Amino acid sequence: MFESIFKRDVSSNETHVLDLTVDVHAHILPQLDDGPVDIEQSIEIIKEMYAMGYRKIIATPHVMSGYYNNTPENILQSLQTLRNVLKSRNIPIELEAAAEYYLEDELFRLIERREVLTFGGSKKHLLFEASFITKASYILEAVIKIKQAGYTPVLAHPERYVNLNDVEVINRLAFNGALFQVNIGSLTGYYSKQVQEVAELLINKKLIAFLGSDCHSLAQLESIKQAFKLKTFKEATQLNILNNTLMEKKATIFA
Ligand SMILES: [Fe+2]
Repeated sequence: MFESIFKRDVSSNETHVLDLTVDVHAHILPQLDDGPVDIEQSIEIIKEMYAMGYRKIIATPHVMSGYYNNTPENILQSLQTLRNVLKSRNIPIELEAAAEYYLEDELFRLIERREVLTFGGSKKHLLFEASFITKASYILEAVIKIKQAGYTPVLAHPERYVNLNDVEVINRLAFNGALFQVNIGSLTGYYSKQVQEVAELLINKKLIAFLGSDCHSLAQLESIKQAFKLKTFKEATQLNILNNTLMEKKATIFA
């Protein structure tokens, strides 16, 4: 029943591509951050993402001390509740959870205590973001520390940081083990023209490991659908990005 409804939606949607079935960056757990305010909003977003072609979503709520004090426990609890509702409504999408960690001292305390949620199974991909005006040297230091702790640092939306608009700086991060997750919406100029240009640069230099929606709301999915039509999006999906390799793997809990 559900399949037939969404097959119609999908087939009528010219933006639909099967090249990208896994999202690795989405704020879809209710009431944990600046994403959906209740579970019905979560369901609406997920249904739309399913119609767009996604078959697995890794939910990544913000973790930022003082603002979003999420823990593995409350994130996984929320994940389970949402999974149960999806199941009861026959929405056949795979859902996992990790987090989007804000780069701050507290992150390293969490890492030391192994109280972080990662994705990609044994690869232990740790998604992190920083203030948009953070110095490149601070991000580099974080990449090295995360790597040394046994995790794979995945920098969320590298194209959005004002100090990472230089190939040399970006290459240095990559050389030290950083993987880059570009926001799909960046390709449309959703954030700004400059952000779009850096996203395109990352594609040209084949430096993208993951594409992410960074979706917080149903409305935001519109820019993602627009991006699906772009040549740059198609080029990005042809770069052996890792999204679809995550279809079978389970998120690591207390990695
Ligand atoms: Fe995010």
